[in-house]
Amino acid sequence: MIDPCTLLIFGATGNLAAYKLLPALYQLEAAARLPAASRVVGFGRRAWSDEDWREQVAALLTERLAARLDPAILARLLQRLHFVSGDLERAEDFAPLAARLRGAEGFPTNRLTYLAVAPHHYATIIEALAAHNLHLEDGGWSRLVVEKPFGFDLESANILDRQLRRRFDEAQLYRIDHYLGKSTVQNILVFRFANLLLEPLWNRNYIDHVQITHAESRGIEDRAGFYDGVGAMRDMIQSHLLQMLALVAMEPPPSLDAEALRDEKVKVLRSIRPIPREAVHAQAFRAQYGPGRAGDQQLAGYLNESGIDHRSTTETYAALKLYIDNWRWRNVPFYLRTGKRLGQTNSLIAIRFKHPPQRLFQATAIERLEPNWLLLNIQPHECMRFEIQVKPPGLELRTQTEYMDASSCALPPEHIDAYEALILDAIEGDHTHFLRYDEVDWAWRVVDPVLKLWATEREFIHTYPAGSWGPVEANRLFDREDQAWRNGL
Ligand code: BG6
Repeated sequence: MIDPCTLLIFGATGNLAAYKLLPALYQLEAAARLPAASRVVGFGRRAWSDEDWREQVAALLTERLAARLDPAILARLLQRLHFVSGDLERAEDFAPLAARLRGAEGFPTNRLTYLAVAPHHYATIIEALAAHNLHLEDGGWSRLVVEKPFGFDLESANILDRQLRRRFDEAQLYRIDHYLGKSTVQNILVFRFANLLLEPLWNRNYIDHVQITHAESRGIEDRAGFYDGVGAMRDMIQSHLLQMLALVAMEPPPSLDAEALRDEKVKVLRSIRPIPREAVHAQAFRAQYGPGRAGDQQLAGYLNESGIDHRSTTETYAALKLYIDNWRWRNVPFYLRTGKRLGQTNSLIAIRFKHPPQRLFQATAIERLEPNWLLLNIQPHECMRFEIQVKPPGLELRTQTEYMDASSCALPPEHIDAYEALILDAIEGDHTHFLRYDEVDWAWRVVDPVLKLWATEREFIHTYPAGSWGPVEANRLFDREDQAWRNGL
């Protein structure tokens, strides 16, 4: 059993807590993974008592979990919740927090501090914690969880990191990229390194190219304040998509120890061929959704979303072609793309193999000879699928694509969220699925030249109809005409 701890949440009344953290805590409670003595302390500006916060959380979880909510589990979770009212910009408001944490209520001394707030608050919070020695280990461990985005570019990420490390050691820091908590993403490791049959094929001799897509049918919802000016490259590619690329491309680590794993991911990120300014247009593409429709529903364009500057050229779609300059991957293109308001919500890693060296089976006029694909579908279905060619029944010797599924490929009955896994890992002190700073740094180095050039080209941006699969102009990234985006399984 793990040690009891106090989970201190800054931003307890915010979006992330409502959508991710509190539902994840409920699921951990349901799975009996939280020690009886563990406590959750929310800090926020509302003048709430413990009881007030409990009522809010009860209403929120009732709405979100609906019929799946078990009142007995909810009651157990609510008993753990406490609220301290204060302004996170005022260091003096941290005095009552410190007093309460150290007071007679007996909160566990192991403390996991979770910054579920916008990053521009990080430095202030950390200094205020330090002013009351709340960053220190006092009788137990002290860990800090920080959310992305880690900065706005390479330079600001470095500044942010220095601010964090003035008070916390690297060993105390847990930088979340919630994609690393997703089951299929973790499965990349198992799939690659627990099966011998893939490894001989996993290189430039057999793989034609790799595609990593994160498509969302939803728009920016109520996040205009965060999203405008940030855009898809910073929001998704710098973090989640590059992490997936690293897991697909890395060498087998000597062990599953967090440092060994992260060393291998860093080696991949630093082997990505830098994109010189003159190659940005050939290797990167951006666009913004205009008005469109999904079925009968009219969808507003980005510029008509509430809170968006009507002259904004922030990209809601970004695509990138990368090469990894090492022996395994040299000259194999990795195509990364992400977008909001696309035709479907789907995250997919698609690995296309080369054609056999000799084509014994001729394609007919209407059929193309299909190569093998390996599809790692991350969501909404967790699925691993091989597309292979077989002979269909009948007299003719033709080829037909069949599927070999390594998992059910059906929607899971209950969605297990990445946050459950990651909160538990942080409580257990396991860094494996958290980012080390050098990963963040190298990922910024990959996208920084593109962002720098785009920042100077703010007059024009391609558009695509909301609800479509994005602009056809993005196809210009492909190296050859027989390469095309895979949209879903
Ligand atoms: C977040 C981005 O990190 O990931 C969002 O800020 C995006 O813009 C989200 O929608 C996607 O995560 P998931 O788990 O819903 O695929």
